[in-house]
Amino acid sequence: MEKLKEHVLLKSKEAYAEKLFAGTSGNLSTIDREKGLIAITPTSIPYPILTADDIVVIDLDGNVKDGKHRPSSEWRMHTEIYKNKPEVKAIVHTHSPNATAFAVAHEEIPVVLIEMMFFLLGNVPLAKYAAPGSEELGRNSVKAMEKRAACLLENHGVVAVGQDLDEAYIRAVYVEDAANIYIKSRIIGNPRIISIEEQNKMRRKMGVPEE
Ligand code: 13P
Repeated sequence: MEKLKEHVLLKSKEAYAEKLFAGTSGNLSTIDREKGLIAITPTSIPYPILTADDIVVIDLDGNVKDGKHRPSSEWRMHTEIYKNKPEVKAIVHTHSPNATAFAVAHEEIPVVLIEMMFFLLGNVPLAKYAAPGSEELGRNSVKAMEKRAACLLENHGVVAVGQDLDEAYIRAVYVEDAANIYIKSRIIGNPRIISIEEQNKMRRKMGVPEE
């Protein structure tokens, strides 16, 4: 698990430098599916002072297997996603400001950039509001991400998933990028959404079912 802990640390620092988190908000994890163990950020420790030693190892029921801190308060959301999406091996939860503005407005981010197709598999849908730290938040995210790699948590933030932390991380970056550009195009006025026909052309290329 030491390698996974190092990777969680690296991506936490990158996300903080990229301003995807504010203060101690946000959390990241990755799972070793064979061992059923998850390396996850600890709760409420400032990212600049975080070390690999601070990363917590839990099982799928939230029991701490290694580490001197409590795991992220969102561990239930992480375990719920791992339990229900077997292809997922990493989760990045951010409060990136532009995307979170959409989460507060309860507006999905439509497909405005081609990258959204290749990185996010389409739009960024909304996951219904649930209390922070609840299993329900995980359930609502799983539902929203049925055909997507990321979603917005109403009045809360962003969740992105992937086959590893690098993939989940870059997806979280593209959610924020799309939100930022879409807001600017709305200020200019009359932003155009990529049509469902064009989206489906890309889906065919990607070998995923058309919608
Ligand atoms: P933790 O510090 O417990 O991970 O909480 C941060 C957060 O973003 C809650 O949603």
